Amino acid sequence: MSVLLSVLVGVLAAYLLIYYSLFKGARFKSNVTLKGKTAIVTGSNTGIGKTTALDLAKRGARVILACRNKEKAEAAVYDIRKESGNPEVLYMHLDLASLKSVRGFAETFLKSEPRLDLLINNAGLIVSGRTEDGFGMAFGVNHLGHFLLTLLLLDRLKQAEHSRVVNVSALLHRLGSVDFNLLNTHKDLVTGVIATEIGRNMGVLQKLLFLPMSKLFFLDPEGGAQSTLYCALQEGLEPLSGRYFSSCALQNVSAQGKDDALARKLWEVSERLCGL
Ligand SMILES: *[C@@H]1O[C@H](CO)[C@@H](O)[C@H](O)[C@H]1NC(C)=O
Ligand SMILES: *[C@@H]1O[C@H](CO)[C@@H](O)[C@H](O)[C@H]1NC(C)=O
Repeated sequence: MSVLLSVLVGVLAAYLLIYYSLFKGARFKSNVTLKGKTAIVTGSNTGIGKTTALDLAKRGARVILACRNKEKAEAAVYDIRKESGNPEVLYMHLDLASLKSVRGFAETFLKSEPRLDLLINNAGLIVSGRTEDGFGMAFGVNHLGHFLLTLLLLDRLKQAEHSRVVNVSALLHRLGSVDFNLLNTHKDLVTGVIATEIGRNMGVLQKLLFLPMSKLFFLDPEGGAQSTLYCALQEGLEPLSGRYFSSCALQNVSAQGKDDALARKLWEVSERLCGL
């Protein structure tokens, strides 16, 4: 009994140690203000995306919540306006599981918004099923939708002086691989997992298996937004453009993540799949 107890206490202590040192520890502190700047945050009606959008709004940015679910997004707009005191928070409809919707969003945005300083590609999910265009949901939303979105907004981004694009990923990218045969046959492909609220799209069994793990391995929204904010706002990161950050610090990626030929191939395949 006492052995069991001390093992349990040991496990708990290790858990807390890892949790706090890895995840809770890294806090982005900065008083950068964003008056006159515009940011888009995809998937920002809950979790890390919402926390990110709130932080940007508090700094005075004009923040566009690019989300699929109108009701939830409007509720988030309300919350963020209220908490930040910034009325320039708005919702624009974007369904990353539809390339048509991505094009529609970009068109609306480019017509109505004269500038873009920050594009935060935050939305992510792991679910089965297909996108409107027939791609695996995770690949279609997490990668392809964002790929097209970024390319369509690139000129507007370049017009702003210090614009940045932040792609949110997660620890599981280390386990990921790119299977071009799968891509060609449009099968489901999970290329990487993005934190917390993705759970809401899962089945009950997946949830039971995944959520306890997610508590251990993933970030809480507050902590999880810190690296995103760091990449978006930290001064002097320009020479590190294209690199991977975690816990507000530069990190190495796996060998695959440094494979330029693989990256080029994924780029070309993505262009083709987006009809570019
Ligand atoms: C971020 O995603 C966009 C869209 O897929 C891509 O163009 C860009 O190269 C990505 N950046 C990094 C550092 O992976
Ligand atoms: C990344 O890897 C290089 C070479 O393997 C090493 O010198 C460097 O310290 C590593 N950086 C980090 C942040 O781990």
